[in-house]
Amino acid sequence: MLSKVNTACVMGMEACHVEVEVDVSGGMPGFLVVGLPDTAIRESRDRIRSAIKNSGFVFPQGKITVNLSPADVKKEGAGFDLPIAVGILTATGALEQEDVKGKVFCAELALNGKLRPFRGALPVTIHMKEKFGIFVMSPVSAAESANVDEITVYGAPSLRGVVEHLKGIKPLKPARGASRKKLSDDFGSILDLNDVKGQEHVKRGMEVAASGGHNILLLGPPGSGKSMLAKRFPTILPELSEEESLETTKIYSIAGQLRDTGLITSRPVRSPHHTVSYAAMAGGGSWPLPGEISLAHNGVLFLDEFPEFRRDVIETLRQPLESGEITITRVQRSLRYSARFILIAAMNPCPCGYFTDPKKVCRCGPDQIQKYLCKISGPLLDRIDIHIEVPRLEYKQLSGKRCGEFSKDIRERVKKCRDIQTGRFGVRRETAACNALMSSKETEMYCLLSDEARELLKTAILELGISARAYDKILKVSRTIADMEGVEKIEAHHLSEAVGYRCLDRNLWA
Ligand SMILES: Nc1ncnc2c1ncn2[C@@H]1O[C@H](COP(=O)(O)OP(=O)(O)OP(=O)(O)O)[C@@H](O)[C@H]1O
Ligand SMILES: [Mg+2]
Repeated sequence: MLSKVNTACVMGMEACHVEVEVDVSGGMPGFLVVGLPDTAIRESRDRIRSAIKNSGFVFPQGKITVNLSPADVKKEGAGFDLPIAVGILTATGALEQEDVKGKVFCAELALNGKLRPFRGALPVTIHMKEKFGIFVMSPVSAAESANVDEITVYGAPSLRGVVEHLKGIKPLKPARGASRKKLSDDFGSILDLNDVKGQEHVKRGMEVAASGGHNILLLGPPGSGKSMLAKRFPTILPELSEEESLETTKIYSIAGQLRDTGLITSRPVRSPHHTVSYAAMAGGGSWPLPGEISLAHNGVLFLDEFPEFRRDVIETLRQPLESGEITITRVQRSLRYSARFILIAAMNPCPCGYFTDPKKVCRCGPDQIQKYLCKISGPLLDRIDIHIEVPRLEYKQLSGKRCGEFSKDIRERVKKCRDIQTGRFGVRRETAACNALMSSKETEMYCLLSDEARELLKTAILELGISARAYDKILKVSRTIADMEGVEKIEAHHLSEAVGYRCLDRNLWA
């Protein structure tokens, strides 16, 4: 007997429809899986055999051939267990072909027949919903998939439960989606920018960065509060939109980091340690999974002690900072993962840390300082729009009362500024619209300077030694500052503030 069951496998951010054909015939007993399966799928044979038997069904004696089609796509993952098992049960008559028609099956099986979650339930559902309306998965995967509109997904506890549901003996209830999950680690709502005393210019710079989606680098001596400020940056970012939330959840789903139910509703914040490996940062493995930069999609990537990261690890940021995605190439195929985040980096100005400190003596030679700063390459520095110096606070400021603004008030202003940008870029852009993502054409179109501002920019480039590479960045940041004021034309004071955020370009350390 021959049977056909629908399933899917995940490939990067997308999924691919796979048909599982099962043929059970007489002859020498055997169980063969063809159609480019990976080791996990080949190993599934023993799981499936035990699961079928332990669920009280008969495992056929003859020769079983399973074909995964299309044959030219390499398949990966344990989600094929259920469709193969259902295929075998259909081929042996325990189920009818009519019972499985029009449905998508995806789950790993335990030896006792229980259904287990698989990685990537959300992208699979989004991809397959064009052709199929009904999905059968484990309860955990079903809760994830149920966040997609216009589909019905059943979360079955076991293989037996699947069969009884399909036969109408014990129908399951459709799963319901969206329970809220906070992934913000220790960055949750307990932190507030108001905790930080003084440093008003840094807070202002952070507000500009949040408003326009700009990357930011904090520079200063030890103990000046860089880490403290950076950790509070996410608290002034606007909430995730529904679309962004689904995008980010998709990545966590593929990475298998969405074990309990739901949708990610707060901006992810990733803060890998500086010993992080290349694969953990960019994404890796023989079948690459999303790395830290993709897990920070639509959120914040915080790199503390920036120059301490390995050079190749830092350099991986180049492509995503430019294009908002990363392509990982392996022998078998290349996969693409979204990685659009705001980078916030913190570092000391020199190895001992006190180069910019007026009170302490720096013990580093010019060569040492240069070598330290050179750990961050020019092209990478170029992609960071805002550099801010964080000076050490005086006793008076530290012992004073807190008087800064609360994060929620700043966030309100940031939201307003983002609305202006959404109005500007509108629906023409499929990704989040913000000034930092303007193309050079858009920069030309939207960054109109007043005469005075134009003169100032000329002077800055000629006399302060601002590199031409930083030109675009200054324009974009000026655009954001003008938006924060709600004005259309960029004036001289907007521009001079933006120039002030390029302290590393101004060669202060040369
Ligand atoms: N502006 C501030 N307001 C209140 N507390 C502060 C401020 N700046 C520093 N501190 C205190 O100093 C501690 C150290 O700050 P933090 O760890 O942010 O320094 P850092 O600049 O990251 O130093 P390093 O370069 O050594 O990493 C904070 O935990 C906090 O208690
Ligand atoms: Mg620190």
